[in-house]
Amino acid sequence: MRGDAMLYRTLGPSGMQVSLLGYGGWALGKKGWPGVDEKEALKTLEACVGQGINFFDTAPIYGFGRSEELLGETLCGMRSQVIIATKCGLRWNDRGYVKHNLSRDSILLEIEQSLRRLKTAYIDLYQIHWPDPHTPLEETLEILSELKDQGVIRHIGVSNFSPELLENALIHAGIVSVQQPYNMLQREAEADMLPMCRRLGLGFICYSPLAQGLLGGNFSDDFKPGRHDMRRLNPLYRNSAKFKAGIALVHNMKTSPAAESLAFVARQEAVSSMLVSMTQRKHLDENCTSIVHACDR
Ligand SMILES: NC(=O)c1ccc[n+]([C@@H]2O[C@H](COP(=O)([O-])OP(=O)(O)OC[C@H]3O[C@@H](n4cnc5c(N)ncnc54)[C@H](OP(=O)(O)O)[C@@H]3O)[C@@H](O)[C@H]2O)c1
Repeated sequence: MRGDAMLYRTLGPSGMQVSLLGYGGWALGKKGWPGVDEKEALKTLEACVGQGINFFDTAPIYGFGRSEELLGETLCGMRSQVIIATKCGLRWNDRGYVKHNLSRDSILLEIEQSLRRLKTAYIDLYQIHWPDPHTPLEETLEILSELKDQGVIRHIGVSNFSPELLENALIHAGIVSVQQPYNMLQREAEADMLPMCRRLGLGFICYSPLAQGLLGGNFSDDFKPGRHDMRRLNPLYRNSAKFKAGIALVHNMKTSPAAESLAFVARQEAVSSMLVSMTQRKHLDENCTSIVHACDR
């Protein structure tokens, strides 16, 4: 089932046609996102496929498994119509401390848990979430390539890699995509990753296109993230000059801030898909319309 108007782009050499607006599953896990209403979030997720969204991104760390579980429960009846991306490499303990681990044994454990939570026999895109300075990259890519050969994962992607690390990774495995932050306030990718993806024919998956709500016009200029709000770790919110620059940019926008911000990302042809966390139905509807209009112009 596809929405009449959603746009699709090819995700690098995978050949997969992914919706330009992708579903970001972080806020669905609720942890670090105060104020998320799980019932409304599920209603929104359920409506995505009808709107033409076929690309769903999550990670074990989002809500410590909860985001994967909810995605699995919601999408299992339509598995062949959706492209599921998840990640590996961030592990947590009983006290909630998070550690990098991209060792062979850890990945074998993580993939088993992700498949169970997502209620699926395979993952379409399995991504290294963050580099792990303590594990040789070759070890990680070797086990990922084995999982691909076994059909447990269809494609390998990386996230939060430097261009140098990506060059190195490409020597050891067939990587199809990179996932990086990109929005009107965080444009570093224009200098390196976007041209690199264009040159190498890799997919570029944009995350935080709305700068975690700042570019959605959701905050007043005196907003301070609370203790349990993951935005307190985001440099755009930690640095008051950067935050004020974001607020000023939003104030100067002529139409809906979210629409303008998503249109900015959509105009980058090297972007295969932009992932947006949407836990309110009105946001899903608005964003689908914005994407289509952005590409009409
Ligand atoms: N690889 C990585 O390290 C990494 C890092 C960050 C994110 N990601 C991925 O990228 C996804 C998206 O990034 P993100 O969650 O950081 O930030 P984001 O999508 O830029 O921002 C999400 C926030 O924007 C709000 N929003 C959505 N549509 C809106 C609209 N039309 N108007 C106003 N506000 C709107 C959401 O509100 P509601 O929830 O209330 O609808 C939510 O609070 C994540 O879910 C995750 O899949 C990956």
